[in-house]
Amino acid sequence: MENKTKPAGTAKFELEGKTYDLPVLSGTHGPNVVDINSLYKQAGVFTLDPGFTSTASCESQITFIDGNEGILLHRGYPIDQLAGQSGYLEVCYLLLNGKLPNQAEFKTFAREITEHTLLHTQMDRFFEGFRRDSHPMAMLTGTVGALSAFYPSSMDSADPEERRLASIRLIAKMPTLAARVYKYSIGQPFVNPLNELSYAENFLRMCFSVPAEDYKISSTLSKAMDRFFILHADHEQNASTSTVRLAGSSGAHPYAAVAAGVACLWGPSHGGANEACLNMLHEIGTIDRIPEFIERAKDKDDPFRLMGFGHRVYKNYDPRAKVMQQTAHEVLDELGVRDTPVLKVAMELEKIALEDDYFVQKKLYPNVDFYSGIILDAMGFPTEMFTVLFALARTVGWVSQLNEMLDDPTQRIGRPRQIYTGEAMRDFVPVSQRS
Ligand code: SDX
Repeated sequence: MENKTKPAGTAKFELEGKTYDLPVLSGTHGPNVVDINSLYKQAGVFTLDPGFTSTASCESQITFIDGNEGILLHRGYPIDQLAGQSGYLEVCYLLLNGKLPNQAEFKTFAREITEHTLLHTQMDRFFEGFRRDSHPMAMLTGTVGALSAFYPSSMDSADPEERRLASIRLIAKMPTLAARVYKYSIGQPFVNPLNELSYAENFLRMCFSVPAEDYKISSTLSKAMDRFFILHADHEQNASTSTVRLAGSSGAHPYAAVAAGVACLWGPSHGGANEACLNMLHEIGTIDRIPEFIERAKDKDDPFRLMGFGHRVYKNYDPRAKVMQQTAHEVLDELGVRDTPVLKVAMELEKIALEDDYFVQKKLYPNVDFYSGIILDAMGFPTEMFTVLFALARTVGWVSQLNEMLDDPTQRIGRPRQIYTGEAMRDFVPVSQRS
């Protein structure tokens, strides 16, 4: 990746009577950054920012979020335009290559993905080691890491071609893996991919077809699935993407780095929020119980949070949530399950929360996870599968960010420092002399 930051002046840092000059850099959009790379060498101090609230970990040209305006761009294209006019595989090409493909480029790319959707047959034996009631994310975390055992020709992160092949294999095989996770958990036979189907059609058929009858493709559900994948494809330096970058910075191969990202995404504050949100909506159950949960969310002494609400970056409506809400209505209409109790609770909860001072003051809006669970639930996925689908969709973002980092000639292993507040140095005391 070519460094495209521009000088934007100098920041003066004063400490113990000395002044240090730190370069200020600007990018295409978003706040300028103060480059503190030389701070420790110059001034002998570290900076401290545990949640990375004010710290940029890298330069990136893939995705940009304007949290105040509720804008999300992938390689410059607004998410609502991509969700409305593009397809997930085309967005994959865009994230990986930095531009939208022409027809020939897309045909070649789609064909290569299609030809890598099969898993090594021995991969299926990994599932036998799991209990049937294992959490699907436990099975996905384990099997993604295991992929490396079968594809040694695409493990050298230092080799751009091996990295490219690993990226293709991970994007292509995640639907097959995710579908197997689901089939194993419900005791149904695994279904292999069909090359004549689209990416989303293939995934839905691998999940929901049974040997006893032909599977009917629904264009509405396939379109909704494809749009769900687009809306989850990438999102700047979120926790799981930062995990993938840090794991990959040591030279760990792409399968290991992505397996680390899958594990991080599982958390309920991150990708696990879609599962937690639907569970919360079911727990609320009816509109009249909403005030009780709003009060709990505001109670400092109650650990309960409104799942699907709030975001580290968005201090406005998550643009993905708007598209997700519209898709939820389309899917429920198609399935003839309009106005389910859970959708009614979700819409009323959103309305009340957006008018409540607590949420207004703290700028807490629905995020991508608020409506996604309603769509997946209506499509027939069990709640525990929701984060698996998020991981499937985010794989292209993880590998794109990993490749961008490894393509950067200045890339080094990530190794944060700390402020130490433990015991001062002291001498060892033999046990015979301890009280
Ligand atoms: C994703 O980073 C990404 O881009 C992630 C993601 C992606 O695509 O990769 O967008 C996907 O992870 C979306 C977020 C899904 N998580 C949830 O929906 C879980 C519920 N949300 C919260 O846990 C929280 O909002 C976070 C984790 C999303 C953000 O946490 P922050 O940025 O650390 O914010 P915070 O915890 O410091 O909250 C600020 C204040 C706090 O109150 P005070 O201490 O200032 O009094 O807002 C409150 C919080 O208590 N708050 C909430 C709340 N979220 C924040 N109060 C009630 N309900 C909530 N949901």
